[in-house]
Amino acid sequence: MRNITLSDGNAIPCMGFGCYNGFGDEMVRAVSTALEEGYSYIDSAEAYKNEELVGEGLRPHLARREELFILSKAWPTSFADLESACTASLKKLGTDYLDGYLLHWPWLDEALRLKAYEQLLKLQEKGLVRTIGVSNFLTSQMEKIKEEFGAWPTLYEIECHPSYQQRAFIDWCRERDIQTIAYSPINRSADLGAPVLQELAEKYGKTPGQIVLNWHIAHDQIPIPKSVHADRIRENIQVFDFALTPEEMALIDALEAGKKSGQDPLVFPSL
Ligand SMILES: NC(=O)c1ccc[n+]([C@@H]2O[C@H](COP(=O)([O-])OP(=O)(O)OC[C@H]3O[C@@H](n4cnc5c(N)ncnc54)[C@H](OP(=O)(O)O)[C@@H]3O)[C@@H](O)[C@H]2O)c1
Repeated sequence: MRNITLSDGNAIPCMGFGCYNGFGDEMVRAVSTALEEGYSYIDSAEAYKNEELVGEGLRPHLARREELFILSKAWPTSFADLESACTASLKKLGTDYLDGYLLHWPWLDEALRLKAYEQLLKLQEKGLVRTIGVSNFLTSQMEKIKEEFGAWPTLYEIECHPSYQQRAFIDWCRERDIQTIAYSPINRSADLGAPVLQELAEKYGKTPGQIVLNWHIAHDQIPIPKSVHADRIRENIQVFDFALTPEEMALIDALEAGKKSGQDPLVFPSL
């Protein structure tokens, strides 16, 4: 799997493993299986309430810690004291630094959001966090960060799948050297029955999900599919042995339907 060099000089794998909504031994096994199968970027968050399980899955693989990219996110309820939130995530994940740390949601309180971002920069200075970023922020909220702190966040995690591509915003990020990470990359499997995906799957001897993941990577947006099933974890990473043609990429681009599945940043979370 190739790495992408980020604007801060760090490297991130071009695909990751999502950890939302997995619990118990199943989650521990899923993380460990993902690392055995070749994923090295693990996408976690305090809000998923499973960081201890993710940490347990990571533990057998920590001898090669420098080869892993461990990312977590802070929820707005932690914005007043980000260092405590970061320290708690580090402890649960069993590591002494994070490769990526993001503000998970912007929330409505601008002063608190900016205070959190300032602390994020301090955590980076202290070496607790290597690359920083945000998720679900609006363009205006990104611009405010640039205005206050003089630089754009390095990473931006965004809902992105064929039926909700956010192409204009991803292009806006690319122009500013902000690397996008595509969350819900297969839209929780909702759209995999689309005829064009079925046809391409047949042509390449792949599944519709693999076609979609290959499409993300070809667009330089990092997909982070989640599964607790070993066969799907394996399936989702076997996407590097074929290349869609520009015409086929365009066919998938044309599946855009403005169909957002996630929450609206303007009203969520209502703390
Ligand atoms: N920053 C944010 O606000 C935010 C929001 C949402 C998600 N995320 C991150 O993005 C990651 C991925 O997004 P997501 O979990 O929402 O959705 P997703 O990865 O698009 O889809 C996951 C769902 O699809 C199923 N699945 C996985 N592989 C499959 C396959 N090959 N065929 C059929 N079904 C399959 C999984 O079920 P099984 O587990 O049962 O296999 C699970 O229910 C999350 O885990 C999280 O790390 C971030």
